[in-house]
Amino acid sequence: MIKKFLDLGMQPLANKYLKKKNKIEKTKEQFYHLEVGFNPKIKLVSILNTIPAKKMFDDNYPYRSSMSRTMLLSFKKLAKKIINSYNPNFILEIGSNDGSLIKNFDKKKVICVEPCKNLAKITKKMGYKTYESFWNMRLAKKIKSKIKKIDLIYSSNTLSHINNLNSVFESITNILSNDGILIIEDPSLLDCLKKVSYDQFYNEHIYVFSLLSINNLIKKYKLEVFNIEKLNIHGGSLRYYIKKTSNKKYKVSKKVIVQLNKELRHGINKFSTYIKFKNKVENSKEKLNKFFLKLKGKNKKIIGYGATAKSSTVLNYCKVKNETLDYFLDTTPGKAGKYMPGTHIYIKSYSKRLLNRADYAFLGAWNFKKEIFNKEKQYIKRGGKFITHVPIPRII
Ligand code: TYD
Repeated sequence: MIKKFLDLGMQPLANKYLKKKNKIEKTKEQFYHLEVGFNPKIKLVSILNTIPAKKMFDDNYPYRSSMSRTMLLSFKKLAKKIINSYNPNFILEIGSNDGSLIKNFDKKKVICVEPCKNLAKITKKMGYKTYESFWNMRLAKKIKSKIKKIDLIYSSNTLSHINNLNSVFESITNILSNDGILIIEDPSLLDCLKKVSYDQFYNEHIYVFSLLSINNLIKKYKLEVFNIEKLNIHGGSLRYYIKKTSNKKYKVSKKVIVQLNKELRHGINKFSTYIKFKNKVENSKEKLNKFFLKLKGKNKKIIGYGATAKSSTVLNYCKVKNETLDYFLDTTPGKAGKYMPGTHIYIKSYSKRLLNRADYAFLGAWNFKKEIFNKEKQYIKRGGKFITHVPIPRII
């Protein structure tokens, strides 16, 4: 029985940026109740009301992993490690997006799986075999019949988006060779709790995993985590290295035990921890609104920087609209010229000129703070300030 601990109100689908036409026909915009709960049995945190995958991951999915240098570098580094440490025969990527990881590998050694047509088109054009499909047992069996040995499966920020985790791990176990490795990475629950980054919750992020919950999920498929890495991307993620328990080639690293102990010390296994988190989220909302009210009272021009899915949760929960934020700036081609879901704040194509017009910029992409601060030295030098809600609302 999942126990609810957080109510983030009625929310639009986070990556559904609106064209003017749908903005006027408001009835078209779908809302859902964003509630978050804890499963005390397997210690898994999830949203309670889910949206069908086909509705979320369609032919116009806007998220592109290549939009950030941080992500590209992280993928490049990982590709090097995969080649040097495991030298796989064949790699399968589940949720290959625009090919940011696989472009580091030989075309003959990779299979991409990507349900969004616009993204699958990109990797197909790059010359990589791409299945334009959701991941499931049928597809796993089809691929298995064609390729003898798949010994590396990678999936980043995808498994947490799939409702039926049993089917995910069952099909992965079926296709992965006995000496193969599964590498998954997703936002870390411990980071989310510590940073009060409640914006990790939105319709696509059905789950926010911890090592503890991953262990509980995979053990029935005779899989185990043998190594783990902490990443700064996406506001703090964990990269899990998983093998079949029968594979004795790799020893379980001390890092796995250290991470588990850290999670337990934080009380990730106790419901009371989530109630404390809920209280912090409510305080965060109050404080952020106070900031905005005060700055608007002084006639300051505030904009948004990075029209992220995460910021959709924050702005809709805190009820911040375009009376507060004049517009968002974003580098993603498919987002510019559209409106933020729910709040209908206009998104403009990023330019330094537009940024320099603002007194304050709300960091929608707070997870790329370092990269953005490096890029915006001039804005900061001329007195421009950033606002972030992580870990507590503050002006930087
Ligand atoms: P991200 O935080 O990865 O994702 P999500 O939508 O899952 O919450 O998205 C970062 C967004 O910020 C993306 O739309 C690109 C944008 N962005 C900029 O506009 N400028 C930048 O310098 C960076 C790093 C990102």
